[in-house]
Amino acid sequence: MKKFVSLLLGLTMLTGLTACSGGDDAVVSNDAEYTVGLLQMVEHPSLDEIRTAIEDEIAAQGYADVIALDYQNGQNDPSTMNTITQKFVANKDDAIVAIATVAAQSAAAATTDIPIIFSAVTDPVAAELVTDPNAPDSNISGISDVIDVSAIFGLAEELTPEVASYGFIYNMGEVNSVSVINDAKAYLDANNIHYEEAFVTNIGEVTTAAQSLIGKVDAFFLPIDNTVASAMSNVAEIANSNQIPVYVAADSMVNDGGLATVGVNYTQLGKQTADMLIRILIDGETIAENPVESMTEYSVTVNPDTAAAIGVDVSKYIAE
Ligand code: TRP
Repeated sequence: MKKFVSLLLGLTMLTGLTACSGGDDAVVSNDAEYTVGLLQMVEHPSLDEIRTAIEDEIAAQGYADVIALDYQNGQNDPSTMNTITQKFVANKDDAIVAIATVAAQSAAAATTDIPIIFSAVTDPVAAELVTDPNAPDSNISGISDVIDVSAIFGLAEELTPEVASYGFIYNMGEVNSVSVINDAKAYLDANNIHYEEAFVTNIGEVTTAAQSLIGKVDAFFLPIDNTVASAMSNVAEIANSNQIPVYVAADSMVNDGGLATVGVNYTQLGKQTADMLIRILIDGETIAENPVESMTEYSVTVNPDTAAAIGVDVSKYIAE
């Protein structure tokens, strides 16, 4: 927010300070002209990469001292996220940046006037953030990481043609995952390939879910699920020790031990998020002038260590 408003609010908030437990974030004290509430749904490598890219781009454009980011971690918990976004609104932040779907949904529920720029929301229509991504008509727009499910299964057919069944692990509370899983089911049904599902509601359940699929399926397919990504190395350990190939929807999940993906570049996605934020805050553009941007450049990522451990040849995808 503008420095002036921030000062005023700081004064009015003094009276209510006791109610504000851990009030480190009540008002970001700084000389910046704008304050932006930055809510990240949970900390896992891909979302951390996005946040770093947002910060770097703001600095690269010369606005590090003009835009103050009030960073908050949503701990993968919707009610924590709601508390945070309500605080952003109470603080009269100039904009909210929400990384990942549930964070964006929380921001959307908190305000209909403060501009919200979402980052890495896979299916913003299913998440009910926008009705028409090409023509945002509320206070919400942002950058989407659309998942090309058929490209991932195409890669899987090439690398492990013997696979006749897949196990899914995902959190049904994540619309992003449900959307990708619906595409996966449609693809596998059309190709007469069998699948089993294991559901989780929090990070602590992921290991058990992975174990429950062992012996039932030939391979795993993990959608763009924040809960599963947060425990990815555990899933990889179980799968790899059982010689099960794991296909995933993000490069970070390959780095954490999955076998392969076809996915987007999240550093680029973070950069585009910051650029949209700058257009709105600094250049005075409106949300309506900023249609949702969908990432459409995909690249293959493979994990050579995992491939070696389970005996899959990925040499074609390893840079010489
Ligand atoms: N697209 C996810 C969402 O809509 C967020 C996300 C970005 C993600 N990168 C990821 C999830 C990597 C899992 C793994 O919420």
